Amino acid sequence: MHPLLPSKPFAYPMWIDGKAYDSGQCFDRHSPAHDIKIGEYSMANANDVDRAVAAARRAFDCGAWPHSSGAERAQVLLRAAGLIRDNKDELALIETLESGKPIRQARDEMEWAAGIWDYAASLCRNIYGDTHNALGPQTLGLVLREPIGVVGMITPWNFPLLIISQKLPFALAAGCTCVVKPSELTPGTTLRLGELLTRAGLPDGVANFVAGFGDPAGSRLAAHPDVDMMSFTGSTKIGKSIVRASQDNLKKVELELGGKNPQIVFADADLEAALDAVVFGICFNMGECCNSGSRLLVQRPIAQDFISRVVETAKTIKVGDPLDQETKVGAIINEQQLSKILGYIESALSDGADLRLGGYQMKDVEGRFVETTVFSSVHPEMRIAREEIFGPVLSVMTFDSTAEAIQIANDTAYGLSAGVWTRDIDTAFVVSRRVRAGTIWINTFMEGPAELCFGGYKESGLGRELGRFAIDEFTELKTVQVHLGPRSSWWTH
Ligand code: NAI
Ligand code: MG
Repeated sequence: MHPLLPSKPFAYPMWIDGKAYDSGQCFDRHSPAHDIKIGEYSMANANDVDRAVAAARRAFDCGAWPHSSGAERAQVLLRAAGLIRDNKDELALIETLESGKPIRQARDEMEWAAGIWDYAASLCRNIYGDTHNALGPQTLGLVLREPIGVVGMITPWNFPLLIISQKLPFALAAGCTCVVKPSELTPGTTLRLGELLTRAGLPDGVANFVAGFGDPAGSRLAAHPDVDMMSFTGSTKIGKSIVRASQDNLKKVELELGGKNPQIVFADADLEAALDAVVFGICFNMGECCNSGSRLLVQRPIAQDFISRVVETAKTIKVGDPLDQETKVGAIINEQQLSKILGYIESALSDGADLRLGGYQMKDVEGRFVETTVFSSVHPEMRIAREEIFGPVLSVMTFDSTAEAIQIANDTAYGLSAGVWTRDIDTAFVVSRRVRAGTIWINTFMEGPAELCFGGYKESGLGRELGRFAIDEFTELKTVQVHLGPRSSWWTH
């Protein structure tokens, strides 16, 4: 028994209208790395979701939050950031045991999440619209920004607290009220957040938290007539179902979906730095990351040497018990994801890609672990070059010209992010402008200050999170036109 393993499972209640809520039905979570029960959570059905939406609706229609000052909202968000930091070790442990991610990484993510709440607090006092003072002497025009209403949020299992922190504080900053449903695989920290927000002074009903499965809890939330907007992060397949579910009441939909993100390495790049980022880009969070750099596009003159170095470096990365401080790559989330990853490895072998490293599940260990896997001689039409694997599997392709690199980079239905490695400023910006993706990193990879907006082109999503544009997502514009002085009559004119 690892000393950090808890003596009994975590059991956090749902949180509705500022109070703990128990539906009377339960579901369990087992640790992917240790295969023991580590969570027991109350499970929402459609009626429980309705109750949470009703609480959010009341808080929006009758409560004070949508009309509170930015200064008041900022205080609540700052206190929430402080409480996340105060409880960082417990939150990180929950995430490691539910998701299989390394504990050191989980602690960093809690800090990162708290920092986003800090940043969103700064936006609370910067919400404003427009005024029009050149419409003639008798007209004054105001464009107000108002909170969009009740926002439903559905999040995935790969970065539970971080992803909800990319949504919730911005919606709260805008004055919205919310119903949050985390993934059934990793609900712990999100449920815990319910209690922390009440302690931070958030009024009852402003943020409500339900736990449960995609169907019925998620699908009920997405289709609910009293929800004004859905903010979803997860698979492109379910993202499309959220769009379909929005049609009856035409709720707004914001989506952060999958990626097949290229790292493009030119011969003139700082290859040491690129090497580190390529290995990080595929190993981080076991490759279970929408931003994974799952395609490496390397320029032909340096390709053979660079690929060998990637393989040598990837070999040294420690895969193992996520509770160990030194572990960099932990366990795979569930059986379904494991067989998906192994299936892609099979498809690469039968498509004729060249297996350079890994390619199998680690034997002789408890839990689900996959060796970091590298395939070279990958062709852009192979499935491992086009589809999101969500595992530590790198697909390597080569290119000659900048134009060819751009063409391969864009040859996918996704468009979330890309990395470009070169010392040539022209090359860096030509690639940045031509690659159709929501984020381009030049000579770095997978960083994300809260100030910079994030989201996808093409099938990687709709709308943007983070940055000041997040406020735009969670607000409606209202035009108020004022007439000054006598108004000429229509019927006598
Ligand atoms: P998923 O998209 O099924 O689950 C994400 C969230 O949606 C969870 O909270 C789930 O309960 C909810 N959900 C599921 N069905 C729903 C429905 N019909 N209506 C409303 N909500 C629903 O993702 P899953 O099954 O966990 O992973 C499958 C694949 O999705 C992964 O292999 C990966 O390729 C991709 N994925 C991408 C993520 C990203 O950040 N881009 C995150 C998680 C998964
Ligand atoms: Mg699913």
